[in-house]
Formats: sequence, structure tokens, C-alpha cells
Amino acid sequence: MTYILGILGHPLDHSVSVPMHMSVIFKLGIDYVYMSFDVLPENIPHAVNQFKKDRIRGFNVTIPYKETIMGHLDGIDEKALRIGAVNTVNNENGRLKGYNTDGVGYIRSLKEETGFNPSGKHVLIMGAGGAAKAVAFSLLEAGVDRLVIANRTLSRADELIKHLNEYFPDTPLKSVGTENINQISHKDIHLVVNTTSVGMKGTGSIGIDLTDFSMDTVISDVVYNPVETPLLRMAGKAGLATHNGIGMLVHQGAESFKIWTGIDPPVDVMRQAVLRALKEKH
Ligand code: ATR
Repeated sequence: MTYILGILGHPLDHSVSVPMHMSVIFKLGIDYVYMSFDVLPENIPHAVNQFKKDRIRGFNVTIPYKETIMGHLDGIDEKALRIGAVNTVNNENGRLKGYNTDGVGYIRSLKEETGFNPSGKHVLIMGAGGAAKAVAFSLLEAGVDRLVIANRTLSRADELIKHLNEYFPDTPLKSVGTENINQISHKDIHLVVNTTSVGMKGTGSIGIDLTDFSMDTVISDVVYNPVETPLLRMAGKAGLATHNGIGMLVHQGAESFKIWTGIDPPVDVMRQAVLRALKEKH
């Protein structure tokens, strides 16, 4: 019997998860397929019911369902509950259980590619959506000492800070409107992470001035299309270290694959497949 994996979202044109996971399935020669499930919001309850069938081993969840899917599941892993978002669902004998692998994927990629150790560091996160939640939680769990969240809609940043405060009451956490991002002191910040969709498809910029950061600051972007976003290009020009979104995509995918199959997949095969798929999209 061929087992089914997939990705649930809408729209899914931007996604490269199918070639990423199929590359591993082919490499390992296992009897699985990974498919796109582009489902409209009104069809989610029906789709989730279908996913309980035993040929469906699990699926990823992406925009815009990472939060809404939580109400349709039979169980949610502790970490995903704390983050407040699910990007991976596993079929456990007809019961669907939600997990979040975005945060662990981000930290693994950041450490592997830049050597950055979050312990004791000061971080600025741009954005306050689902991706920001996972990244903020994981960085705080990894020992970040001070965190600022900058968002276009200040109330959303305030809400996220309030949520994080419940879990990390002793860590200084602050929110700021994006228009005031250059008013806060940049000198003692060690890591800047863009979790907004600004920069996707190579357009737009968040308006952060990178000239007064210290030279050992890492500038990180979770956007992977294009691989070099306008923010990363600007950081490179300013001589700062950069970290793109490919590694997070690959590592969150690898962690999901392990949850579904028990197999640690070859991440380099996944990375090559992602880079190839992105090239073909252009
Ligand atoms: P995700 O789950 O991918 O994080 P999301 O929850 O929709 O997606 O969050 C998108 C983030 O990008 C938000 O922080 C959003 O800012 P708002 O809360 O103000 O909407 C940010 N964002 C999206 N488009 C933006 C833009 N043009 N300028 C600034 N921020 C933007």
C-alpha cells in the first residue's frame, strides 16, 4: 500500500514542499507519495475527516491554516500548543495530532549556517504572525536574553509579547511599531530576523537602517523566495553576516518527515531539490 503525505494550504503555488519531500522519497525508495492539498476554507472540515484514513500518514499545514487547523485535531503536542500554531499533523491510528517543527527548523539552520548561539543574546524580530511566534519561542527557549518584536500593526506585537511573557516572565520583552524601528538602539543587537512576507518575490523593504549595527550582527530572513531578499542584499553590502530562509524550510521539513516515517531524511538531498525547484519557478 502506498502511503500518502502532503501539504494543506491555500493557495499553494508558492510551495516547494512537493519536490522537497518527493526527492527524499525517491532517494530512500520508500512507498510514499507527497501531494498538494489546496483546500478552500469551507472544505477544511471535510478534508480533515478524509485525512484520518489510514493511507494518509500525515501532512504539513501552511498559510493560512496554521492556527485554524488546531480546532480540527484530536490532540496537539505541548510545544505546538505553547507556540500557538501547527505546521505538521501526524495520523496516529486515526487520531490526528498536531506538531510544530518551524521553530526547531529555524534554530537548527541558524546554528548550522552561521554558528550563532542564542544563549545570552539580544534579538530583534520583525513581524508578529505565525512564523514570528515559532521563531520567538524557539529563540527564547534557546536562551535569548532580550527580545524586541517590531510589527506594522503594533497591537499584534503587543499581543505576542503578552503571550511570550507568560512563558518567559524574567526575560525583558518589548514591542515597537515598525515605523519606530530605527529609534531603538541597534548597537547591542546580535540577531535581526525578518518573519514578515516583505521581500517575498524580491520586492519591498521593511525600512530598517542597517548602518549602525555592530559588525558581528547576523541578519536573518525566513523568506526563501528569492534566496537573497532585498534585506539580505542590503546586509551583505553593509558587511553583515546573512542567513537565508532555505535552511529553515529544509530542516522543518526534515523534522516533519521524521515524525511521519521515523526516518531521519538526508537534508542535503532536500536542499538541492528546493534550490532546483526555486530555479524552475523563475
Ligand atoms: P505567517 O504565518 O507567515 O507569519 P501572518 O500571520 O499573516 O503570516 O503574518 C504576516 C506578518 O507579515 C505580519 O507580521 C504582518 O504585519 P501585520 O501584523 O501588520 O499585518 C507582516 N506583513 C505582511 N505584509 C506586510 C507589509 N507590506 N508591511 C509590513 N509588514 C507586513
